[in-house]
Amino acid sequence: MVQNPTAVFKARRERLAAAMREGVAIVPTAPERVRNRDSTFPYRFDSYFYYLTGFAEPDAVLVVIGGAVARSILFCRPKNEEREIWDGLRYGPEGARAAFDMDEAFAFEALDEQLPALLSDRERLYFSLGADSHWDRRVTGWLNNVRARARTGVRAPVEVVDVRSVLDEMRLVKDEHELATMRRAAAISTSAHRRAMRFARPGLREYEVEAELMHEFLRHGAQAPAYSSIVATGANACVLHYVSNRALLEPDDLVLIDAGCELDGYASDITRTFPVSGRFRGAQKALYELVLAAQAHAIAAVAPGRDFNDPHAAAVRTLAQGMIDLGLLQGSLDAAIESGAYRRFYMHRTGHWLGLDVHDAGEYGGEGRWKRLASGMVLTVEPGIYVRPGEGVPQALSNIGIRIEDDVLVTPDGGEVLTAAAPKAIVDIEALMRDG
Ligand code: GLY
Ligand code: MN
Ligand code: MN
Repeated sequence: MVQNPTAVFKARRERLAAAMREGVAIVPTAPERVRNRDSTFPYRFDSYFYYLTGFAEPDAVLVVIGGAVARSILFCRPKNEEREIWDGLRYGPEGARAAFDMDEAFAFEALDEQLPALLSDRERLYFSLGADSHWDRRVTGWLNNVRARARTGVRAPVEVVDVRSVLDEMRLVKDEHELATMRRAAAISTSAHRRAMRFARPGLREYEVEAELMHEFLRHGAQAPAYSSIVATGANACVLHYVSNRALLEPDDLVLIDAGCELDGYASDITRTFPVSGRFRGAQKALYELVLAAQAHAIAAVAPGRDFNDPHAAAVRTLAQGMIDLGLLQGSLDAAIESGAYRRFYMHRTGHWLGLDVHDAGEYGGEGRWKRLASGMVLTVEPGIYVRPGEGVPQALSNIGIRIEDDVLVTPDGGEVLTAAAPKAIVDIEALMRDG
């Protein structure tokens, strides 16, 4: 059963407080950013701040006082009738305190007055130093303010710890509330990919397909794409971050779509590659089956106790052997892997953590070893092959780019593909495109 979200956010703040003991954390949210003159970009909160609060307004800072008796203090925009007529509701400190179950709340403007006192006599400050120079300066100012009052008998924190080191570990293992949201995000994104497959046909522009994805995201309540959607037909699929999405869909080409929605802060991230005509041709089929097999082997390597790198190693092995079989590489499999020759056609890694951020928080390794997978982690598995024309490259394989990407939850006994509803077997794709 999914708990009431306010309690979920509060429990996270309590975990942070317990981890900090005598520390105090300062976690600001993201600023609003100007797009042009009076127009701002659609607002997106900071993921760490949101993870601890569920509060989505700009101009807000969370302070968590560590120790046995944790205290959460929110600074946010005050009520303002005039601004609320133009921009909509602001909770205001009192409204936010009650709605988000904070211990105290103050106006954002009270930060300079309150923070030196909150930092006084605390052993450690937990803050993401270096993430934003504006906040670096303000926090340094508050620390100096406490230091300047040393003769009154107060002491400033002697250590600054990156608060992300605590929060990243927490964010890496998703709780029930997060998984419920991620499953819904995955369901919306899979229906968007199905819609795109049904809709695609020769003569359309890539952006027309992108519009179908967007339609499906928004009509199901997703707030935005989690990242710029890639709709790349033909040779464009060999450009890894292709986002111009303006080319014509040609009947003999494949189209690669890498798109996923963000729902209530959580990302999904799916890639499917399919033929514009609805039927895979010979060379396309051979390369597609290779990437699909690499993905199956990589997904089979997702299980608790395995290393983060195991799916990548499995994908590389399969892809490199396929490249040799198809005449893209010469020599032995071990030599192709050892020398990195396969990177000419597979130059990215096989996945990343997924959560509030599309490339989510969390370490991938450290101290000479890869992170161990554990139940509750979510990662993408996204092998691909990108064949640019060049010396020694068979003509028939040239200008084909394929990636297949799913979101996989580590379960107690393996991996669960959250995005399985988007077809990827050739027969399933062809059937959907034929029958709708
Ligand atoms: N769409 C971003 C990625 O696949 O990593
Ligand atoms: Mn990805
Ligand atoms: Mn992707």
